[in-house]
Amino acid sequence: MAKISVIGSSSMDLVVTSTKRPGAGETVLGESFTTVPGGKGANQAVAAARLGADVTMIGRVGDDHFGQQILRNFEENHVRIGYVKPVTHMESGTAHIVLAEGDNSIVVVKAANNEVTPAYVEEALDAIRSSDIVLIQQEIPAETVVYVSEICAKYQIPFLLNPAPAREVEKSVIENATYITPNEHEAAIMFKNMSLQEALRKYPHKLFVTEGSNGVRFFDGEQEVVVPTYKVEAVDTTGAGDTFNAAFAVALADGKSLADSVKFANRAASLSVTKFGAQGGMPTRREVEEQL
Ligand code: RIB
Repeated sequence: MAKISVIGSSSMDLVVTSTKRPGAGETVLGESFTTVPGGKGANQAVAAARLGADVTMIGRVGDDHFGQQILRNFEENHVRIGYVKPVTHMESGTAHIVLAEGDNSIVVVKAANNEVTPAYVEEALDAIRSSDIVLIQQEIPAETVVYVSEICAKYQIPFLLNPAPAREVEKSVIENATYITPNEHEAAIMFKNMSLQEALRKYPHKLFVTEGSNGVRFFDGEQEVVVPTYKVEAVDTTGAGDTFNAAFAVALADGKSLADSVKFANRAASLSVTKFGAQGGMPTRREVEEQL
């Protein structure tokens, strides 16, 4: 069983569905309001656990009702939470999501996730060192991403950076990462002084650019490869990227080839969008294998 450490955010998603997305200064009437567990880190941890990995989450929640619900959700999904400690006198992270016109818009308030500091992560060094792969995203402080990239390089632990949400990334993090999985927008910000083609060639076998329904693009050392996605009827695309990253990490840790790992991840991500909520449609391993 693949051992995976996920270092990242755990939040509560506050989701409103509406037929119309409000513009600046506009008020629209919504249809429903739901709270579901989310946060890119937590989503990736839950997705990897459903796919059969032994997952340790390294994150933080607030000492509030959302924090308790987030912890319970981890337990229900068999994610280890010894390193998800509540922060005293601070709220849990929240994501304010509008689902409208076939897509989402999200505002994230990081709150307790800001306390996923390098010093805090250091407490989990043993878990990190015994991992087959480490997954990290960008809803936690940038210095933590730098720190984790350094310890993974030092101990030669494969390290997958999902650079979402978009921000500029230290060059050392890019060099230390084993795999980087931006979407096109995130890639443009990370590699702002080069074209996408140049970036792909500079980082063969490392840079995997997710291009929505077009598929996932990488450079295999000789040519650009595009692994196509699967067409499905999407109910809610929130968390599809997280499912992709988790499934990619699980497949890589299992020893699948790069192309097969992307294929497995694309299949898992396509299943994830068929149900409501970031984690609602995340598939089990059996469900992915049946579809493959
Ligand atoms: O990637 C989807 C996630 O992004 C949501 O669950 C929300 O929490 C935001 O952080």
